[in-house]
Amino acid sequence: MCGIIGYIGNKQVIPVILNGLSNLEYRGYDSAGIAYLENSNINIYKAQGKLQNLKNKTENITANNSLNIGIGHIRWATHGVPNETNAHPHTSCFNKIALVHNGIIENYKELKDDLVKKGYNIQSQTDTEIIVHLIEEKLKEMPDKTTAIRNTLNDLDGAYALGIVFADEPETFFAARKSAPLIVGIGEGENFIASDVPATLEYTKKVIYLEDNEIAKLTKDNVEIFNKKNEKIEKKVELIPWEPVAIDKMGYKHFMLKEIHEQPNVVRQTLSDKLHSSEELVQLNEVKLNEEDLKKLERIQIIACGSSLHAAMVGKYIIEELVEIPVDVEASSEYIYKKNITGKNSLTIGISQSGETADTLTAIRQSKEKGSHALIITNRVDSTMAREADSLLPINAGIEVSVAATKSYTAQLLALYLLALNLAEIKKSVSNEKLTILKEELLKTPQQIEIMLSNKKAIQKCARKYYDTRDFIYIARGINFPAALEGALKLKEISYINATGYPAGELKHGPIAMLDNTIPVLSVLVPGTVYEKVLSNSEESKARDANIIAVTSSEDEKLESIFDYIIRIPQTDELISPIITTVPLQLLAYYIAEFLGKDVDQPRNLAKSVTVE
Ligand code: M6R
Repeated sequence: MCGIIGYIGNKQVIPVILNGLSNLEYRGYDSAGIAYLENSNINIYKAQGKLQNLKNKTENITANNSLNIGIGHIRWATHGVPNETNAHPHTSCFNKIALVHNGIIENYKELKDDLVKKGYNIQSQTDTEIIVHLIEEKLKEMPDKTTAIRNTLNDLDGAYALGIVFADEPETFFAARKSAPLIVGIGEGENFIASDVPATLEYTKKVIYLEDNEIAKLTKDNVEIFNKKNEKIEKKVELIPWEPVAIDKMGYKHFMLKEIHEQPNVVRQTLSDKLHSSEELVQLNEVKLNEEDLKKLERIQIIACGSSLHAAMVGKYIIEELVEIPVDVEASSEYIYKKNITGKNSLTIGISQSGETADTLTAIRQSKEKGSHALIITNRVDSTMAREADSLLPINAGIEVSVAATKSYTAQLLALYLLALNLAEIKKSVSNEKLTILKEELLKTPQQIEIMLSNKKAIQKCARKYYDTRDFIYIARGINFPAALEGALKLKEISYINATGYPAGELKHGPIAMLDNTIPVLSVLVPGTVYEKVLSNSEESKARDANIIAVTSSEDEKLESIFDYIIRIPQTDELISPIITTVPLQLLAYYIAEFLGKDVDQPRNLAKSVTVE
């Protein structure tokens, strides 16, 4: 959350910074700001809201310099409301230093009190502004900038990626990081810093990944890195193996709709890499545990947040069903503040689209410290989690722009199915016949999603019927319970409707009290072990006057007379069905948000990458 960028070189600084920020806008859109040097003065422009507002403010401005230097920021508010005063860059009292920050300074209140006592005029409500004043204060005693920054960092508790410019040093700028991602981009006669590679990829493929407690000092031709003791160190320059991706809606109204439609190909591509036919073994060489270690596995834990957590819940069902190893699933944010009983003979699977989610990263680090092997399932092979993984299983969903996860969720599911099948093959925990049937079913999924997508009209009609409801309940049981949670999450995050997912059998233990004709209840109803039970729970809701909707692959004729609305999905094996059942729920959420006129791709208060705990 929050994105930072910095540039030094001969290009016009404002377009470079704005262009970089466009590629970071997924990290927040509460405000944006830029600071650049001109004739040894620091010029600042800030705008509340989306980056476009800053672009409008700066469209006719060019920096009048031969050497250009500046920093930029995109904000997801943590401390202080989203307004211009709280927007970054923040400056020292006499505008001699400007600073951008991603992260949270936990001890900012004490530091602020101290600075106020010393007479500093703190203007914003942010935790960030104190950093720039602390540097200002340190510089009085230690004029060397790297030393003053280091001494400031020593006073800070929390997480930070920082970019800093000084008015009296127009040929240098500084960066530092702790527990927040930051890269240094190495160009020809120009250098960059950024929270993420896509911000600078158009200009250079050479990067240095800064580690915790490192400071970078950048001129246009040189980059120096200093460790915690302020000793100069050599760092490996890595080459990014991918091309800049044109971020384009390809004719779709929103990225979310485009990404929903990309799902058949994402699944097809992964299957063509890893599962060639139902008769062959799964090709999964990414798990770096040998067969002996895998056979010794006593426990698996899967740690994730949000949609990735729902994928993890499906993973638990399939791994327990096929591999017969107990699987615990935990929200990363809960995992990290309790007794950790992980150890050897356990596998920790971290799932994260971004590979940067702070809670998941901390949880993985904790479990690794306890001796557990860390397998990371992520869409970003260049992320911090990917770099710290013992085993890395990329999901290759392609860049996902919309804040609401869709194709990455489906790709995570697929990775978990392939992993479960692979483990089952190694452990011989399932008959070959059953494995063949499941593989056949898995191979059908791209086409089934396509059928689903070609039948959008029915979902649009359903959305039209229910878009003005204030509350929505999603129910399911067994392997589709996570689909109910995911459907509800999609709806609440992009439409702001109060949608909740429940295990269908839990409804009568409390939530049923809420039901009346104002609350629709959507059931995920797939023939198999729990079909009749979910059907009964749907009828119980109808008996309380609720409008009931089914998402079903059943051809049972009586459903027409029971449900108020039916969304049909293709026939699918119960165990594989979550790959299909989630798609109509994504579309339903999308069309409801669309009817309500919401900002589908950038819903309020959210960010795509959650880098604070
Ligand atoms: O990048 P991650 O998968 O770790 O992100 C986890 C959640 O923040 C994410 O899934 C979030 O819930 C999405 N907005 C859901 O659509």
